[in-house]
Amino acid sequence: SQPLRLGIAGLGTVGIGVLRILRQHAALLEARTGRRLEITAVSARDKSKDRGISLASYAWEADPVALAQRDDIDVFVELIGGEEGPAKDAVEAALSKGKDVVTANKALLAIHGQALAEKAEADGRALRYEAAVAGGIPVIKALTEGLAGNAVTRVMGVMNGSCNYILTRMETAGLSYDEVFAEADALGYLEADPQLDVGGIDAAHKLAILSSLAFGTKVDFAGITLEGIDRVSIDDIRAAADMGYKIKLLGVAQQTARGLEQRMQPCLVPATSPLGQLDGGTNMVVLEGDAVGQIVLRGPGAGEGPTASAVLSDICDLARGFSGPVFGLPATTLETSQPATAALPASY
Ligand code: NDP
Ligand code: HSE
Repeated sequence: SQPLRLGIAGLGTVGIGVLRILRQHAALLEARTGRRLEITAVSARDKSKDRGISLASYAWEADPVALAQRDDIDVFVELIGGEEGPAKDAVEAALSKGKDVVTANKALLAIHGQALAEKAEADGRALRYEAAVAGGIPVIKALTEGLAGNAVTRVMGVMNGSCNYILTRMETAGLSYDEVFAEADALGYLEADPQLDVGGIDAAHKLAILSSLAFGTKVDFAGITLEGIDRVSIDDIRAAADMGYKIKLLGVAQQTARGLEQRMQPCLVPATSPLGQLDGGTNMVVLEGDAVGQIVLRGPGAGEGPTASAVLSDICDLARGFSGPVFGLPATTLETSQPATAALPASY
């Protein structure tokens, strides 16, 4: 069979991780998918940067939009990031040119997911994004495939490792928010714009995507009741501990009689619960379905290997010919959600 030809835009943490797996596991991936996965061309800003891996065997495109439109690629892999700019332009160009797309870009999907899904489906193309939510945890597939026989009743979880690291460190070291924030920043744990992490925005992007998949609604990032961790004090954490709770930046999405409730807020969770015991930079997603009951998925939500692992799962699906609507239902049938009036969170 023909090789699946990949164009990869973005050679940072995730892009290089994808290149490494494609090289290390070339034979295994071919055996699993029945096709050779071949990188044709790559793109990044700085051609001269040492990325610790040779790029000599790939064509170089300075412009990701040009890469996305090349005749010698079948799949455009977008690993640049950002909700506007080159990532969006290139994904749109790829779909217009009849390419399938794989992306890890939760910001792009949370803001433009509906329009991109409509475009992909109108063009008969696939748009896959396993890495966009909870990094290495295969939560998109768990929802769309594993729970296909369920009406999903609730999705919740800790979806930003940096915030969980900060809250855990405040609690275990007895340090203030400002002290731990500075420490996390110095360690390189935070996004280039740390507000995306501590403001809860990155986690809310992920929740918006999961909500759409779970409830058949259009991605509605703006409908999320959003509060970051930047006002959590060490006194809050101590008071919670005295009552047997921990504070977690928890995302919750559920259909209620009042409409779709989507929250990303610091919440009290029992210290002995799975969510309460989730320390450090790990992610946890809890899925509830009417037939299956509750499923708990836990694992690395970021980093080169885990995120590249999720990107590869999408690439392998495309190699095997798996397709399907972007958000589980045809994009034109997704409903506009009625956001529930915000109420103060209970504990979970
Ligand atoms: P990085 O910042 O490490 O890498 C971004 C890459 O994009 C760099 O190679 C950069 O080029 C390239 N780039 C930026 N602007 C352009 C441009 N105009 N044209 C061409 N290339 C460009 O990001 P990550 O690898 O960390 O993240 C990539 C995506 O994966 C993002 O959407 C992110 O949200 C998502 N993601 C990341 C996770 C992680 O753990 N890092 C986890 C889950 C998702 P250059 O190197 O030359 O500067
Ligand atoms: N900043 C994100 C986190 C990266 O800390 O979880 C992965 O999406």
